[in-house]
Amino acid sequence: MTKNKIENAKKLLRSGELVIFPTETVYGLGGNACDQNAIKKIYNIKKRPANNPIICHFANIKDIMENFHLNELEKSLANKLWPGPITLILKKKNISKISSLVSNQSTYVGCRIPKNEIALKILKGLNFPVAAPSANFSERTSVTKFEDLDEKLIKKVFTIKGKQSKFGLESTVIKVKKNNIEVLRFGSIAPDLILKVANKSKIKFITKSKIAPGNLKKHYATKKKIRINIKRVKDGEGLINFGKNNLKSKIINLNLSKNGNLKEASRNLFHFLHRLDQSKCKKIAIAPIPNIDLGLTINDRIKRASKK
Ligand code: TXA
Ligand code: MG
Repeated sequence: MTKNKIENAKKLLRSGELVIFPTETVYGLGGNACDQNAIKKIYNIKKRPANNPIICHFANIKDIMENFHLNELEKSLANKLWPGPITLILKKKNISKISSLVSNQSTYVGCRIPKNEIALKILKGLNFPVAAPSANFSERTSVTKFEDLDEKLIKKVFTIKGKQSKFGLESTVIKVKKNNIEVLRFGSIAPDLILKVANKSKIKFITKSKIAPGNLKKHYATKKKIRINIKRVKDGEGLINFGKNNLKSKIINLNLSKNGNLKEASRNLFHFLHRLDQSKCKKIAIAPIPNIDLGLTINDRIKRASKK
């Protein structure tokens, strides 16, 4: 069943059509990265501003090396962290056929190798990388579970169903600049792990990068209003809790991780936001999350989601 679907997905991608597929982070809305018409379709369907670049997904490092210049540090990060939820912004070679529309005409392109069986099966054997933003309308909440995909999207685009995403937050986007590592977007790999792998002691956070406008203030928005770092739950609010405490909603209570495990919380976050959007509550209240490790990413997402 899935095998046929994967073949069908490849066929569609080869003919310039789009496909929604699962990854270890969030569902992606993919198209041929070398076909500018396919890229245009992605921007149109997502209602995404053209200056917000799209990540290219590859099956292996060899294909990335053919298209990009990598220095020693980039090679080392690539070998240790791929396949996995890290995106490296790399300098494109002149010979590359990747469309400049994926990177807003820049020669610096976001690249990653996903760690998900279905995604890798789709990518294998294609003679082009797949450009794929998250499979949601621009500014809306990303999707980690098939049932949370927007109906309007799956009506238009062939979709492959996977299991719930293993990581649940998007990839961490990094760039190597003069042998230093800059984080352009917090993600599923915490900064400490990147430092360890790179054998470095410092990392720079560029939270307002102009080249990564995915960091637009309003993003990941639910339909309902969100309050974060709450001390008590108000009437009409549904609760997304974390750890053990006395917080309680009269309408709906979900706990990201009763044991205070940030990995588990990361995996649950987007699905819980979708669930509360579908539930009877009028607004969403979110308990404080420790601002360390993956908590940095969770707090980044809920802060943007709570912006008016
Ligand atoms: O985990 C992920 O990264 C998922 C899955 C599908 O791979 N994709 C994803 O794509 O989250 P998207 O488009 O929703 O977010 C991509 C982020 C944006 O913040 C964008 O600005 C940044 O990566 N980005 C992409 N290409 C870039 C580039 N060439 N330079 C700087 N930032 C870039
Ligand atoms: Mg996105």
